[in-house]
Amino acid sequence: MTRKIVLAYSGGLDTSVLLKWLQQKYDAEVVTVTLDVGQQEDLEPIGEKAENLGAIKHYSIDAKEEFVKNYVFPAIKANALYEGKYPVSTALSRPLIAEKLIEVARKEDADAIAHGCTGKGNDQVRIEVSAKALAPEIEVIAPVREWNMTRDAEIEFAKKNGIPIPVDVDKPYSVDQNLWGRSIECGILEHPDVEPPEEIYEWTVSPEKAPDKPEYVTIRFNNGVPTALNGDEIDPVSLIEALNDVAGKHGVGRIDHIEDRLVGIKSREIYECPAALVIIEAHKDLEKLVLTRHEVSFKHQVDALWSTLVYTGLWMDPLRGDLDAFIEMTQKRVCGEVKIKLYKGGFRIVGRSSPLSLYDLNLATYNIESKFDQASSKGFIELWGLPTRMANALKKTGEKRGV
Ligand code: ARG
Repeated sequence: MTRKIVLAYSGGLDTSVLLKWLQQKYDAEVVTVTLDVGQQEDLEPIGEKAENLGAIKHYSIDAKEEFVKNYVFPAIKANALYEGKYPVSTALSRPLIAEKLIEVARKEDADAIAHGCTGKGNDQVRIEVSAKALAPEIEVIAPVREWNMTRDAEIEFAKKNGIPIPVDVDKPYSVDQNLWGRSIECGILEHPDVEPPEEIYEWTVSPEKAPDKPEYVTIRFNNGVPTALNGDEIDPVSLIEALNDVAGKHGVGRIDHIEDRLVGIKSREIYECPAALVIIEAHKDLEKLVLTRHEVSFKHQVDALWSTLVYTGLWMDPLRGDLDAFIEMTQKRVCGEVKIKLYKGGFRIVGRSSPLSLYDLNLATYNIESKFDQASSKGFIELWGLPTRMANALKKTGEKRGV
């Protein structure tokens, strides 16, 4: 019986080679799947290319809204920044890709799915752990991990098999993008001591070339997610796109950091995530206005754990859902507006307001007429400092005794 394999297909050289290779090596029928997660690419030619290369069927799936609502929204609520820096943009898309591959595999009665991830990265883990959690009976094939083809060998294979060579085949960079961000790797970027060349950036202008005038944006949040930009209620996909544009225009969103991959390798990563960085910072700020200090402090730990789970491919682990339950409770109060000033590669929160604000001017003011009873601070300080006083007193006695 001929095998049927569902392949995650991007239209690039790697997955095109894969498409032919799977047909030849397994004598298989290959169904291809391409997702639109906001990577700003025309999906139609990708489908045509797949069919020209022998795919028996191609699925082109617009998953933008699903991606935002089911993956980006939870990440916003969790202020997700892996190692404090990376908004997990690629990581968020992988469980969705896995879900869609499995969905198509079931529909097509296929016995395997295949992807083009290498054995050195996080993406293989994310796709496979999710796929296996959803459908343990479906095999996962990861040829790139086994075949050890060099770029030249791939080009050779492509030429032999009538696979069109992309015009940018000489570009040394590997790019992955979706609504939540753009990742750029390889080439000179693998030297962490070298400043990245300007040519790698596409979503952000260089801060030196950003407008000389600052620009303000206001984001309204409702239940922890953005619902309006500058007062206009718009759908979340458009809101993120618009914010990527405006913040990117001001040079905001570049990230350059050393990242710990799950497989133990340290890597230098470059991202452009204008909307993600601005939204998360604004969201964090609003949380500080409406949540208690205890909630904020505990949520820091939950957020960090959430980000690590998602980065390391454990989207499907029940712990992520457990953490989401806590996060969800807190987000009911995260409603309000945050004003951000964008200027020359940087941005700052310059104002925030909420109907559920815990800020009380009457308490906070340094004016004399305040309802805060200053006299009560005396006793408070007495008790707050008691352990510290005791320890220091003992230290002095100890010093006298030479211990
Ligand atoms: N280091 C990032 C991550 O692990 C980016 C990965 C980019 N993936 C890619 N296939 N180019 O999430």
